[in-house]
Amino acid sequence: MSPANFLILFLLVLPLYVIILTRKTRNKLPPGSFGLPFIGQSLSFLHALRTNTAEHWLRERVRKYGAVSKLNLLGTPTLLLHGQAANKFVYTCDQKILAGQQPTSIRKICGERNILELTGDDHRCVRGALLSFLKPEVLKQYVGKIDEEVRKHMKMHWHGKEQVQAMPLMKTLTFSIMSSLLFGIEEGDQRRDALVKLFQQIIDGIFTIPVNLPFTRFNRSLQASKKVRAMLMNLIREKGAALEQHSASPNQDLISCLLSIRNESVVLSDEEIIDNAIIVMIAGHDTSAILITFFIRLLANDPSVYATIVQEQEEIAKSKASGTGELLTWEDLAKMKQTWRVAMEILRTTPPIFCSFRKVLEDFEYEGYIIPKGWQVMWAACMTHMDDQLFPDALKFDPTRFEKQAAVPPFSFVAFGGGPRTCPGNEFARIETLVIIHYLVTQFTWKLCCSDNSFSRDPLPVFRHGLEIQVKPKNCATG
Ligand code: HEM
Ligand SMILES: *[C@@H]1O[C@H](CO)[C@@H](O)[C@H](O)[C@H]1NC(C)=O
Ligand SMILES: *[C@@H]1O[C@H](CO)[C@@H](O)[C@H](O)[C@H]1NC(C)=O
Repeated sequence: MSPANFLILFLLVLPLYVIILTRKTRNKLPPGSFGLPFIGQSLSFLHALRTNTAEHWLRERVRKYGAVSKLNLLGTPTLLLHGQAANKFVYTCDQKILAGQQPTSIRKICGERNILELTGDDHRCVRGALLSFLKPEVLKQYVGKIDEEVRKHMKMHWHGKEQVQAMPLMKTLTFSIMSSLLFGIEEGDQRRDALVKLFQQIIDGIFTIPVNLPFTRFNRSLQASKKVRAMLMNLIREKGAALEQHSASPNQDLISCLLSIRNESVVLSDEEIIDNAIIVMIAGHDTSAILITFFIRLLANDPSVYATIVQEQEEIAKSKASGTGELLTWEDLAKMKQTWRVAMEILRTTPPIFCSFRKVLEDFEYEGYIIPKGWQVMWAACMTHMDDQLFPDALKFDPTRFEKQAAVPPFSFVAFGGGPRTCPGNEFARIETLVIIHYLVTQFTWKLCCSDNSFSRDPLPVFRHGLEIQVKPKNCATG
């Protein structure tokens, strides 16, 4: 090549090169480091979760790198976003850009048509079907049924005991309530005992590496899920037949409800009903059990909150004809305003779901940074919950913050998420929590057994010894 030709080629190529270069510098990656290859910040983050210092861990990153930064979790480049606007962006942005990001194991265990795996119209359709059962107008019919489950549980597991572990008991109770409402499987039905064990096996395998070898937790989880599927398939047949003979009402339980709307607009296949019945059980019973366990701990530690709650609940108990076993009603729940405010403040200060992820499907720009396809975006509830600008004096436990809903800025209280994927079970969780707290405070007093009542996240909160408490029945308790 002659020097002249080289010069011409150089001049031709130069503009292209300049364009590429400036594009690169304009669309830069967010600040932050990826740490060591593959491991990145995973170990240090997991350690922070386990020692319940993850809030501090995240706050330090924001202090160092700002509200938009990158890191590496479990081998995946991750964008960490902080703030009200960031929450809004993650919850409401186009699903072509961000989609749900679940461990591969969830798809294998819970099925490909479970709501967490779906986007766009598929997601809207399944969500609509679930909400036809989970909406308040339908759930309000179930207050009595939940009440009965709670009383039976108290009789069996609380009365006559001096010491109990609050957390495993609350898990048993929320599981009972859900198996009655979702599947129509009642106390005493041996299928319920089988389901408890199978669901525990399923859950144990969800946060594992999905290698299907014998004796792995993942393999056992798959086996359990197969058995649950077979049971649910039988239930679908049973309930389908009962509906056709009009010997069951369409709103009897979630499965009947999903079957009966097949005649209307939303059509779910048997597979879809099974996948989603499983995912709702998994999404719903631990989370609400955790909220109620935090509530039990708080009432033992905070005499002034305790006094308010007891007063509110005793008032309602007094309005019931004594000794007749009159059930709580939807109207009673509406009077439990203080109790729900305290629950909201618990969800703010200790959200059961600490963080969640979205997968980046297409490159996008955020505040001048380019975020490449293949990354994941992380949102962490505590980040806005503990922001003094959104919640003045954020460290202080103060249920009165929730007296006026309008006082809480949008996309700042996100314990139930937000936007089109916001938790569809929040009303269910509210009803359960209120009924359970009602019977706990009107029938018992309790003290914590251990001075150490801290918890770790694994990734859901776990208490040492399951939060052991000493219980005493109140004199007037009739059960
Ligand atoms: C205190 C209790 C609960 C808390 C704190 C909670 C929290 C959440 C959060 C934060 C999300 C959104 C996750 C994300 O956007 O990545 C979610 C989704 C979900 N929750 Fe809950 N939840 C609770 C109770 C329940 C209950 C009782 C049910 C069922 C009866 C339920 C069913 C679901 C389902 C099906 C989704 C997925 C929704 C979708 O992808 O469209 N949750 N929950
Ligand atoms: C568990 O592992 C065994 C041996 O690899 C395999 O035959 C079996 O299918 C696995 N179970 C499930 C439910 O996949
Ligand atoms: C669906 O509608 C048909 C006729 O319109 C009726 O015979 C059948 O019982 C309905 N099925 C359910 C599950 O409601």
